[in-house]
Amino acid sequence: MQADTIIEIQHLCVQYNNVQAVKQLDLTVRRGEVFGMLGPNGAGKSSTLSCIMGLRRPDGGTVRVDGHDVARDPLAVKRILGVQLQKSALFNELTAVELIELYAALYEVFPTRAQIMALLERFGLAQKAGARAPQLSGGQQQRLALAIALVNNPQVVLLDEPTTGLDPQARRGVWAMVRRMREEGRTVLLTTHYMDEAQELCDRIGIIDNGVLVALDTPLALIARHAPPLSPQDAARRQPNLEDVFLALTGRGLDGEQSLVQDDEARWLATTT
Ligand SMILES: Nc1ncnc2c1ncn2[C@@H]1O[C@H](COP(=O)(O)OP(=O)(O)O)[C@@H](O)[C@H]1O
Ligand SMILES: [Mg+2]
Repeated sequence: MQADTIIEIQHLCVQYNNVQAVKQLDLTVRRGEVFGMLGPNGAGKSSTLSCIMGLRRPDGGTVRVDGHDVARDPLAVKRILGVQLQKSALFNELTAVELIELYAALYEVFPTRAQIMALLERFGLAQKAGARAPQLSGGQQQRLALAIALVNNPQVVLLDEPTTGLDPQARRGVWAMVRRMREEGRTVLLTTHYMDEAQELCDRIGIIDNGVLVALDTPLALIARHAPPLSPQDAARRQPNLEDVFLALTGRGLDGEQSLVQDDEARWLATTT
């Protein structure tokens, strides 16, 4: 493993009954970068994160975090990782402070009241210390989930779709918080299905489709290498972007919209097999 590698995924396979969600995935995340896993719903992003967190045992392959094999040494990995799940479970009966205490206890850390308040302050939630989750807006709940992800002062932070469902202003707030995590020297691995978010926020991006990595590079390099030339009309009004890359690589948009060619092909296959 190279010195600057913090997460190393080798030949990862995840299988649910008859669905192969992740197929022989190889991926490395470097220390200190913001790495984005970009892909449509069902691509296998959350399944991959579950294996990194040790919530799910790989059906094949290995995941190492800072040299520790997640399947063999889950406790060592837990000490390094902070996690925000796709649907964060914020118990309705607990206040923001109590939620932070609860999650901290799960990590076996016990912050003082002042430390908890500093964490809430950092995420713009100082006024909400005594509020319960249902009294928080979507953006505030998401920020509380980010605060919880930092509760054990982790080296690596995993964020599963941290901005899905947020309004543009709240999304930008989350981006600022992710950038600050990077400034503090943490590594951030996030998933998103927003191309603009990946392009804006990530040092490198892995594009995942159907459980397979279809491309991995910096946003600019992905665009330079894979975006086809724009039509003269498009070229007059915009630059090539990651959406062009995804279309070129998979034949459809990230929202799953199939191109006509692929639909025709699918119909043809269906009639001949
Ligand atoms: N617990 C599960 N049981 C059965 N199938 C699942 C389960 N979780 C995910 N899948 C399937 O695995 C594939 C990948 O899902 P997931 O990893 O959640 O993708 P993503 O996070 O990229 O949307 C999808 O086809 C999904 O329906
Ligand atoms: Mg997911």
